[in-house]
Amino acid sequence: MIGFIGHTGLWCVLFNQIHATAWPRSTRKFSEKTILLAVLLPVVWVAVLLVFHQSLAFDTLAVHPITFYYFSLCIPLGIYFIGRWIWRKLAVRPPGVVVESKTEWIDLKTETGSPLLHGRLANLLGSIPFNEALKLTRQRMIWELDVPEALDGFKICHLSDLHFTGQIDIQYFQYVVEEANRFQPDLIFVTGDIVDKIECIDWIKDTIGNLRSRLGVYYVLGNHDRRIKNEQQLRERIANAGLIQASSQWHEVQTGGATIHITGNELPWYLDAESVPLEPRSSSDLKILLSHSPDQLNWALTRKFNLMFAGHTHGGQIALPFFGALVAPSKYGVLYASGTFQIDNLLMHVSRGISGDEPVRICSPPELGLITIQSSRLRQPTASTGSKLT
Ligand SMILES: [Fe+2]
Repeated sequence: MIGFIGHTGLWCVLFNQIHATAWPRSTRKFSEKTILLAVLLPVVWVAVLLVFHQSLAFDTLAVHPITFYYFSLCIPLGIYFIGRWIWRKLAVRPPGVVVESKTEWIDLKTETGSPLLHGRLANLLGSIPFNEALKLTRQRMIWELDVPEALDGFKICHLSDLHFTGQIDIQYFQYVVEEANRFQPDLIFVTGDIVDKIECIDWIKDTIGNLRSRLGVYYVLGNHDRRIKNEQQLRERIANAGLIQASSQWHEVQTGGATIHITGNELPWYLDAESVPLEPRSSSDLKILLSHSPDQLNWALTRKFNLMFAGHTHGGQIALPFFGALVAPSKYGVLYASGTFQIDNLLMHVSRGISGDEPVRICSPPELGLITIQSSRLRQPTASTGSKLT
């Protein structure tokens, strides 16, 4: 069992690393199939051993030099993966600045009274027990930050990974937009993977084009947006719908005397992040980075951002109860699959996203992030609030 955990973990690590790259889609799809085959191969091998040798002893498993060396590697790897998992379960806790995080569920199939799925595959996936693809969650969070009093009560709405494929009806996304607007946010961020299929490019206007916030709706593109071959056409449609491209420059937002700076990073899929000056021209009370992938974490740390909003990993999309996500397309594996993380003075929120390539989600429901900022300068520090983000 330990050897099998080591074996599965090893191939999961490879999967995560390959999917964190900007390699062509065909290469990644080929690697997906190869990895699946490699993971299943020992299962077949064990079945053969059970049938012909009625034994699972190490000397029967490792009967050939190749399997001997491979299993000799998998056992310590298995111990390492188990140890790392236990350590993360015990040691990794939500940062103290997250003073509240509530999950509210909305079953959109019931709410809209519509089947919402189109196509044979989507309907087949929709019939899988425990599939949460149409069960939207409102993730309401309160973050206590060391920011000017003018930012107390400031509201941010975060959407990521909409994936317009046509498999999920436009009504689903329109409902999400209505929910976002109901929050009456000051800022809205959309962190990539908006349109997968060119046939859905017209959806932009009637969905995210209806997002309303006091100080603007900012976006970055993600890897799936590259499926729209004409990047300029995609950006024009998004701009015409009223969204502001976060990448390539610093955006300054003033509110009640406080200054917020926003920029975006679309690496490694769109190569313009390095053109952004290291610092905005004026001093900032809050520096915010939008990045499709949490893998740009070091980029954010070296530029001393306060907040980073990301998506891409879909919370693993198919996770196990209690165990959590198995795979996530990130160089950090499943470490930042979803949730809020404090790394030095950076607070990073990774959304599970609104949808996915395929409409299947287990133990990782779609997420609409609704964040309210509290200014710690208005409050006495208490033991429960933990370390303050500066
Ligand atoms: Fe995505």
